[in-house]
Amino acid sequence: MKIDVLTLFPELFESFFSTSIIGRAVDEDRVSLNAINFRDYSKNKHHKVDDYPYGGGQGMLLTPEPIFDAIADISKEIKPRIILLCPQGERFTQKKAEELSNEEHLVFICGHYEGFDERIREHLVTDELSIGDFVLTGGETAAQVMIDAVVRLLPGALSKASSHEDDSFSSGLLEFPQYTRPENFRGMKVPDILLSGNHGNIAKWRREQSLLRTLERRPDLLETAELNKQDQEILEQLKRSQD
Ligand SMILES: C[S@@+](CC[C@H](N)C(=O)[O-])C[C@H]1O[C@@H](n2cnc3c(N)ncnc32)[C@H](O)[C@@H]1O
Repeated sequence: MKIDVLTLFPELFESFFSTSIIGRAVDEDRVSLNAINFRDYSKNKHHKVDDYPYGGGQGMLLTPEPIFDAIADISKEIKPRIILLCPQGERFTQKKAEELSNEEHLVFICGHYEGFDERIREHLVTDELSIGDFVLTGGETAAQVMIDAVVRLLPGALSKASSHEDDSFSSGLLEFPQYTRPENFRGMKVPDILLSGNHGNIAKWRREQSLLRTLERRPDLLETAELNKQDQEILEQLKRSQD
């Protein structure tokens, strides 16, 4: 996979692209990550990339030309998925991360200042994505959130021991509680079942805990999660015990 980020602050991506699981995925050639300063595509002699909004109003907007030119330059081989980071966009989810992880080439456009010229949104991008209902100063941190969520899904990016299948949202449910050594920490004990060595019972307990956690914290997820007959029965029991 190739991921290009169009930004005015490529330096913000230096350590992000080279650290931990993302850095390892780059070293192992699972992904190629580039931060491109679209100011380099400005034809203005001062490399200006923003201007006042027509009709007046506060702040400056990113002009279309440098961003259109940068995209034309990097999209020569395959047509990329072009993602505009935008608080008005569709909410980014694990499902969207899974969808994007199947693409060959992603481009993220990081806005700054008051936003961007509407023609970028109308005629250039394939997706507008938001990380939540709040406003950041720029799209860089939002792009990092999405790249992190996508890259860890690439085959081989995570070691087998830390695979993502059980992660919250991957199965449609929240992940079950986890414990590590010591068995007894200041009187707080690991549940006996996890020490029993009975893998069938442990798997059953984990599924129940996932269902319980999702019911308590995110019941909305249960409407779309894939649940078998046994899950439904467990949920009914859990609901009854809550009444
Ligand atoms: C100050 S914001 C512009 C907000 C814009 N005036 C509005 O009200 O929709 C600057 C840039 O930060 C990025 N950004 C801000 N909040 C974001 C969010 N929740 N998700 C994704 N990107 C965001 C976008 O790229 C945006 O163009």
